[in-house]
Amino acid sequence: MQKIDSLVVAAMEVAQIPVSLKTLQAFLPRDHVFLELWPQVAEQSILHPLQALNVVERLDHVLQQQLPGDVIECGVFQGVTSVLLAKLLDIRKSDKRLLLFDSFKGLPAPDRQADTSMRFQQGAWAASRQQVEALLAQHGVQQRCALFEGWFSETLPTLDAAQKFCFAYVDADLHASTVDCLQQLWPRMETNAVAVFDDYHHPSGGVRTALDAWVGNTGELVHVGPASQCYVIRGVHAGEGGFASLRLPVAGQRDIAISVDSLRSNQLFCALVRKRLEHLRALEAQLGQFAGLLQQRV
Ligand SMILES: C[S@@+](CC[C@H](N)C(=O)[O-])C[C@H]1O[C@@H](n2cnc3c(N)ncnc32)[C@H](O)[C@@H]1O
Repeated sequence: MQKIDSLVVAAMEVAQIPVSLKTLQAFLPRDHVFLELWPQVAEQSILHPLQALNVVERLDHVLQQQLPGDVIECGVFQGVTSVLLAKLLDIRKSDKRLLLFDSFKGLPAPDRQADTSMRFQQGAWAASRQQVEALLAQHGVQQRCALFEGWFSETLPTLDAAQKFCFAYVDADLHASTVDCLQQLWPRMETNAVAVFDDYHHPSGGVRTALDAWVGNTGELVHVGPASQCYVIRGVHAGEGGFASLRLPVAGQRDIAISVDSLRSNQLFCALVRKRLEHLRALEAQLGQFAGLLQQRV
């Protein structure tokens, strides 16, 4: 079964393929809200369109369900995804608030036992509070946003006891930061609320181990992908919600349950997998011929 895990990780590599607006237009219905939103932030976003589309579609689905609770982003950086979330709330005429949490001085010190990638350094992804406020104002969405400055472990516990969330975007890069978010957010998430996690498949491993340990205890189903993301629907366990699931052994803890259903129905993702496969086959053929040439010379 562990093979499934490495297959999933390999498939996420398709997020290396650039996706233009023209490609998005070819795969999404003409009136898809992402086609209106993405061009407004694409140049500034650090997300691959697959990731941004996932965030937008997950929040939009939650809004259609009319779940109570606000929207939260943990790990804001320059606020570009915050703009995307706020604009979707505007388009859907939602009265939900968008709560934005960040140190505004970048990552805390990583625990190198848990966060192995040197990409995640102390102070990386630093953007100032003023920078984020300016971007929100530039896009005219500042009114529904509230900024919380400081380490998650200090700011999240200050939330009002009555504060609930229907949607969370957790983009915290590191193991300890993700654990802080899980501990503080889970009791505030309504049943069927959705939490999207970035970097779940990142080789650094910190987000992965944090979430796997968490769902190992709760038994909630992890919807893997697209790209480095995954999402969890609060209170939905393996065998529930009509999702096909697979059991995945994780070293040192209880098995977790994953689903690839949302990838299966993601036409853009499936097309990118096929495109990547064609490219690799062509490359393999060329390399094979080249290897033949080398042998002749010897
Ligand atoms: C990759 S960036 C977020 C990118 C943003 N979500 C986007 O889509 O553009 C990660 C952010 O998490 C913040 N962060 C990570 N751990 C944190 C912690 N423990 N407390 C506060 N902020 C943290 C960093 O300051 C950084 O801005």
